[in-house]
Amino acid sequence: SKSLDVNNLGHLTVGGLDAVALAERYGTPLYVMDEDLIRENCRAFKQSIDRYYDGRGLCTYASKAFCCKAVCRIAQEEGLGLDVVSSGELYTALQAGFPMERVYFHGNNKTPAELTMALESGVGQIVVDNLEELQLIGSLSRAAGRETDILFRIKPGIDAHTHDFIRTGQIDSKFGLALENGEAMEAVDEAMAMKGVRLKGLHCHIGSQIFDIAPFELAAEVMIRFMGEIQRRYGKTLEILDLGGGFGIKYVDSDNPSSYDEYMQRVSKVIHRCCGEEGLPIPYVVIEPGRSIVGPAGTTLYTVGSVKEIKNVRTYVAIDGGMTDNPRYALYQAAYDLLVANRAAEPKTQTVTVAGKCCESGDLIQENARIQEVGPGDILAVLATGAYNYSMASNYNRIPRPPVVMVSQGESRLVVRRESLEDLLRNDL
Ligand code: LLP
Repeated sequence: SKSLDVNNLGHLTVGGLDAVALAERYGTPLYVMDEDLIRENCRAFKQSIDRYYDGRGLCTYASKAFCCKAVCRIAQEEGLGLDVVSSGELYTALQAGFPMERVYFHGNNKTPAELTMALESGVGQIVVDNLEELQLIGSLSRAAGRETDILFRIKPGIDAHTHDFIRTGQIDSKFGLALENGEAMEAVDEAMAMKGVRLKGLHCHIGSQIFDIAPFELAAEVMIRFMGEIQRRYGKTLEILDLGGGFGIKYVDSDNPSSYDEYMQRVSKVIHRCCGEEGLPIPYVVIEPGRSIVGPAGTTLYTVGSVKEIKNVRTYVAIDGGMTDNPRYALYQAAYDLLVANRAAEPKTQTVTVAGKCCESGDLIQENARIQEVGPGDILAVLATGAYNYSMASNYNRIPRPPVVMVSQGESRLVVRRESLEDLLRNDL
């Protein structure tokens, strides 16, 4: 990507800035985010939505991919909505001054406290996962003397081909209401009869890191058909169709995601055709990309400590971070491209295992990784770490979380400070 390059010192550059200099200035491990690329991605999705739905639609950023005040502000400035799934993400959005009417509150087990917070802060839409939650929102809303706009999360029964842990459209999923067994229609029946809620639309999300367009087309069709059924049953047109996120990104050369604009175009064709057949107006279409907005914009920088060559077995390159800042290899065997930032112009001549510093054999960032000559003190860069890295980071072994730096127009700025040892003890009594 043009976000990354190599300068005349042979160093990796991120958004035009020398990665080795960034590592020196801010320390390692360090998350570097290319703000200009994040904005470019926001605009591309927004333009597609505007083009294919005549400006009647919304791209919401799925903040779970990377949530902090700075990224909420970027999403706001770019005219996006925001998908939040917890009081923590909601609080971040509130503190960033994000307009609450553009917030969609998701989650399969929102607590009464979280729902109360959402109602009090004026969250625009709550995406209801199950019947118990519907009852809860109904009673909280009535007690507060208000009406809450809701969507139902539907399991469209689509099996997207991605890692088992991040597939969510099939019937055996903890998320949402199934169509097949009548659960979804039962929820609609209850909502229609209930005071305190207004059923505004439907939502589905079939999984993450999906490369094919076909499962998205299928999901859109299933959803419009169900909207048609509701229309015939109640004479009521649901206004919003939220189709979730899940668009794959390129982590390594062999990854081949579809173009997002082609996805948007093909899905909009399905929606226009099916709405015609069902006699429905075109709904207000919402999408929720997370990974595809921030993933490619992130680079993690580490300092190499020891290099342990085990003859005829493998070479371990140990870094000053690991599964605490990037658990994705440990969790999903996720593939990453990496390189030695201070030797970025040199050819990749060896195959190594990059290991973290946790007391855990599975604490690996990558196995069989091709990289340049590497030794103690070198800066190792792991690419495309902008999504689900910082947001999934932990303090295992009481390792402080790294800071986040944004680079834009040739300048860098700290947006999340490095955790201190004091921070780690803040809640200890
Ligand atoms: N909407 C809903 C309801 C979701 O559950 C998700 C992701 C998204 C949108 C955004 O999906 P995206 O565009 O980022 O694929 N931790 C895993 C990914 C889990 C995704 C969870 N839900 C990973 O590191 O790959």
